[in-house]
Amino acid sequence: MQDLSLHILDIVENSLAAGAQRVEIRIEEDLQSDRMTIEIIDDGSGMDEEMMRKALDPFFTTKTTRRVGLGLPLLAEACRMSNGQLYLQSCPGKGTAVKAIFQHSHIDRKPLGNMGDTLITLIIGHPEVDLFYEHRKEGAHFSLDTREIKADLGAVPLNAPPVISALRASIFSGLEELGV
Ligand SMILES: Nc1ncnc2c1ncn2[C@@H]1O[C@H](COP(=O)(O)OP(=O)(O)OP(=O)(O)O)[C@@H](O)[C@H]1O
Ligand SMILES: [Mg+2]
Repeated sequence: MQDLSLHILDIVENSLAAGAQRVEIRIEEDLQSDRMTIEIIDDGSGMDEEMMRKALDPFFTTKTTRRVGLGLPLLAEACRMSNGQLYLQSCPGKGTAVKAIFQHSHIDRKPLGNMGDTLITLIIGHPEVDLFYEHRKEGAHFSLDTREIKADLGAVPLNAPPVISALRASIFSGLEELGV
């Protein structure tokens, strides 16, 4: 996986598989402390201590189609490669928080890639889930909350094509303004 935005898509898929109704993606790029932090927080089924330990092991998965689960171990590896670390917090019945930290300027830090596409993919595929996105960079920020957008839309579905076009335009211009 080349881009962090694809890792994010993968980690959010875990949240959705765990029955999350709301997923928060928070990105902070702090150039002063040379850190990039990505958090994915969900209100899904959560994991106990033993599941959390196993989740970081590439040979563990609760999926029945395949014997290895790579989402979390690959992200942990991407963190370590750039002088960072992955933190996992979870509570059964409450939810999970994945926090990935990277040295921003590290030569081996993967680029974020196309975060707009990741967000649009998630919104089209799972309009019923509330998705919150916040990206902070050098004192500026961009945020999006599909729960608020759904409230404004009333009966119009979030994944109606004209709504998706408008969302795509606003996400791409918001991220561009931020210099992402
Ligand atoms: N947000 C989460 N909530 C609840 N359980 C989770 C969450 N994230 C991961 N898990 C558990 O950890 C396991 C490992 O996750 P991981 O993403 O590494 O692999 P996978 O999802 O099983 O397979 P892959 O991501 O390679 O398709 C999952 O099968 C699931 O049991
Ligand atoms: Mg996974």
